[in-house]
Amino acid sequence: MTLNAKITEIREKFLQELKLAKTSRQIEILKISFLGKKGSVQSLMQNLKDATQEQRPLFGKQINDLKLEITSHLENSLKRLLLEEETKKLENEYIDVTLPGRKHFWGRYHPITLTMNKMIDVFVSMGFAVEIGPDVDSDFYNFEGLNFAKDHPSRDMQDTFFITDDLLLRTHTSNVQVRVMERFKPPIRCIAPGKCFRNETISSRSHVFFHQVEMFYIDENVSFADLFATLNEFLSKLFKKQIETRFRPSYFPFVEPGMECDIKCIICSGQGCRLCKGTGWLEVFGAGMIHPNVLKAGGIDPEKYSGYAAGLGVERLAMLIHQINDIRMFTENDMRFLQQFSL
Ligand code: DAH
Repeated sequence: MTLNAKITEIREKFLQELKLAKTSRQIEILKISFLGKKGSVQSLMQNLKDATQEQRPLFGKQINDLKLEITSHLENSLKRLLLEEETKKLENEYIDVTLPGRKHFWGRYHPITLTMNKMIDVFVSMGFAVEIGPDVDSDFYNFEGLNFAKDHPSRDMQDTFFITDDLLLRTHTSNVQVRVMERFKPPIRCIAPGKCFRNETISSRSHVFFHQVEMFYIDENVSFADLFATLNEFLSKLFKKQIETRFRPSYFPFVEPGMECDIKCIICSGQGCRLCKGTGWLEVFGAGMIHPNVLKAGGIDPEKYSGYAAGLGVERLAMLIHQINDIRMFTENDMRFLQQFSL
């Protein structure tokens, strides 16, 4: 085959393969296979060696022209493909900085947590310390030490979840009273927020799982008047308006005398409405003067000291504050309900 024929063959093969090259990487490969040390153009050098003296300059020029032609094709294609590739990459990475940011969904506090925190804040501002008692407790702290005798019918008031004969899920936060008395000497001014459990039929007004804030104060000469003043102050701060209260005698084994506290209906101000069932009053919590037997169980001398105590239902207060008419809403995890509450 003559040199001319070889050159034509290489040129055609090159142009064909160039047409098929679609990436800068493929161009690099083409360059190696045509212009590399073992490439097709280099192999033409053999012809140069075999050529006569006169043929040599012409052959040299022809081979060189082919090299230049291929080089120029490769450079053009490489430039074009690199630009295409760069443009595509930029398009893929395109960010519209004028778009509005993505919305983040923040968690919220549960309405019970919100109400409990509010109650704690008010009591702490009045000088009460916070103690947390155990949810699983012994019969002694939940009943015995609180003057519930073993066979006392008052235990029927509390439908208890027992774990063993002696261990139970606390039925009220009053279980913290004797624990605190054992650890501290009067004056004691303390609140105990937490969970409570009772084996009750679930309805719109009662649940097996609920929250209380226990509060008590023990010192010399603590009186009923102190209790009234503290509760009135607490309620007015919690509801952020003057709250009128009414106290009715009631029975709890751990207080003597014991009572229940009502507030004048926050909706109708005593006129009578659906919330207060026409009575004008809302029952909010139990309270009383700590029974001498309870002080004794906590190692405190009832001759020297006296104290008051109250147990406040958190669900009850949250329902009043937000006008919720079914306690079950708090445990149903309905986002439409939960999203309505914020700090
Ligand atoms: N522990 C009572 C209950 O859960 C509430 C209570 C009533 C607490 C009177 C008190 C109190 O401290 O004095 O029903």
